[in-house]
Amino acid sequence: MAHIVKSTNPGELNGISAKTNDIHFGKLYTGYVNKRNEVEEKLSKIESADLDSANQVYSMYRGLKDGETFAANGMILHEVFFDILGGEGKPGGKLFDDIVAEWDSWENFEAIFMASGMAARGWAILAFDPSDEKLHIYQADAQNQGGVWGAIPLITLDVYEHAYMIDFGADRKAYIAAFMQNLNWDKINTRYEKISK
Ligand SMILES: [Fe+2]
Repeated sequence: MAHIVKSTNPGELNGISAKTNDIHFGKLYTGYVNKRNEVEEKLSKIESADLDSANQVYSMYRGLKDGETFAANGMILHEVFFDILGGEGKPGGKLFDDIVAEWDSWENFEAIFMASGMAARGWAILAFDPSDEKLHIYQADAQNQGGVWGAIPLITLDVYEHAYMIDFGADRKAYIAAFMQNLNWDKINTRYEKISK
């Protein structure tokens, strides 16, 4: 069954413009959903000649498989990103308590998470990892690189230039601060509660 656009465009946010979100949501996120469908459709009809010529340097099959995970993770990470924005950035709830337990203080966590946003080329991600039942900050240089199998994303900070260039120019740090101030902690905690169950 085809994938559909599940998120909604948050529109104008505090410091992040409607123009940025229109492009980010309407063209890029939606584009990942469409491309995921296109790639899956092509994979479902792949011909045996293309399977026979599968090759790690270049081949039709390699291109499709590479695109499959890039588009899938592009869709999944953006769905979390758009879902958790639109709030007032005031941390609270069970996830806040667990973050403080893991990183000693909110300020310490925030400094580390924001540094990951500066160090990543694609995403900084707060995730719950069932393999050790702990929270982790993971970072990805591309959507199909840097993920940890099984980890469930809770806060996904997109640091590709398209997320901030229009509003902040090259000042990624100011964008990350704005992102933190727009987080909707009710929604983040709802995600966390679902995982806990
Ligand atoms: Fe993005």
